[in-house]
Amino acid sequence: MTNKICDLLKIKYPIIQAGMVWVSGGKLAAAASNSGALGLIGAGSMKPELLKEHIIKAQGLTEKPIGINVPLLYHGVEDQIKTALDLGIRIFFTSAGSPKKFTKFLKDEGCIVVHVTSSPLLAKKCEDAGVDAIVAEGFEAGGHNGRDEITTMALIPQVRDAVSIPVIAAGGIADGRQMAAALCLGADAVQIGTRFAVTKESSAHDNFQQAIIKAGFGDTKLMMKEVVPVRLLKNKFYDEVQELENRCASKEELIALLGKGRAKAGMLDGDLEKGELEIGQVSAMIQKSLTCQELVDQLIKQYDQTKSLLASLNLAK
Ligand SMILES: Cc1cc2nc3c(=O)[nH]c(=O)nc-3n(C[C@H](O)[C@H](O)[C@H](O)COP(=O)(O)O)c2cc1C
Repeated sequence: MTNKICDLLKIKYPIIQAGMVWVSGGKLAAAASNSGALGLIGAGSMKPELLKEHIIKAQGLTEKPIGINVPLLYHGVEDQIKTALDLGIRIFFTSAGSPKKFTKFLKDEGCIVVHVTSSPLLAKKCEDAGVDAIVAEGFEAGGHNGRDEITTMALIPQVRDAVSIPVIAAGGIADGRQMAAALCLGADAVQIGTRFAVTKESSAHDNFQQAIIKAGFGDTKLMMKEVVPVRLLKNKFYDEVQELENRCASKEELIALLGKGRAKAGMLDGDLEKGELEIGQVSAMIQKSLTCQELVDQLIKQYDQTKSLLASLNLAK
């Protein structure tokens, strides 16, 4: 398979393993890249020293390209970027901030820059800022999310029509049928988070992975729109957030509940009560943890089956 994103990122399949705080370290990124996708290290939860360890680990495990995801809302972004550049990383997926902030700098350093957005208007701003491609992320996605509640199905054609650079669809994609659908909507590739979180190489704690496997239909919800919208698995922490939101608590109260370390406690340390468990709607489809290679093989097989199904429909006849 070849297309604009495969050519740009030098990957076999148009699949990006999403950058995920506490979940996508060097081991996952290397395994995803070795499987024919692009692996991304989620730098958002890492101080520069830790990021350095993960990059070196990944580089020792693969000769394929890897990238890093840098959410621009945290402190110390400059140091993360410098650390990655010094170690030879030339693929940056930036998110949660203005694409104007680092794109020119990174392009001048010879990097490929992709920015994550959830609206056609912002996608155009990304294109104007000079990014190479856009991740358009729908409301189904796990983790931090747009406020507008636009689903991937509605978002991708609008972003496709708004820009001429490649578009990577994210949110609600866990199997090859959904991948084929995203490409039919006009995307050039898919970015997958939740499904890669439940893999043998992910850093998601086993308790968290088991909770995702157990999750059923409707077990996630987009919360904390007042602070920073995030899709969560329903648990005790979620109940506490819900209780505050039901009584229209102030932003300050929500920030105080969020406190520090909730995401790490839930996703890396496996505290299913106090922890914040960021995950997407497709968690209800996941039955077991796979290796990255098994997952990518499965995605491609289902994608090909879906393509044949579509070809056999011949609606115009
Ligand atoms: C556990 C988790 C952590 C995430 N952390 C980040 C992050 O650090 N930066 C970011 O840009 N997106 C983050 N996301 C969003 C993903 O990069 C990706 O766009 C999203 O998961 C795609 O939707 P899906 O979960 O339905 O596959 C996270 C998602 C999850 C599930």
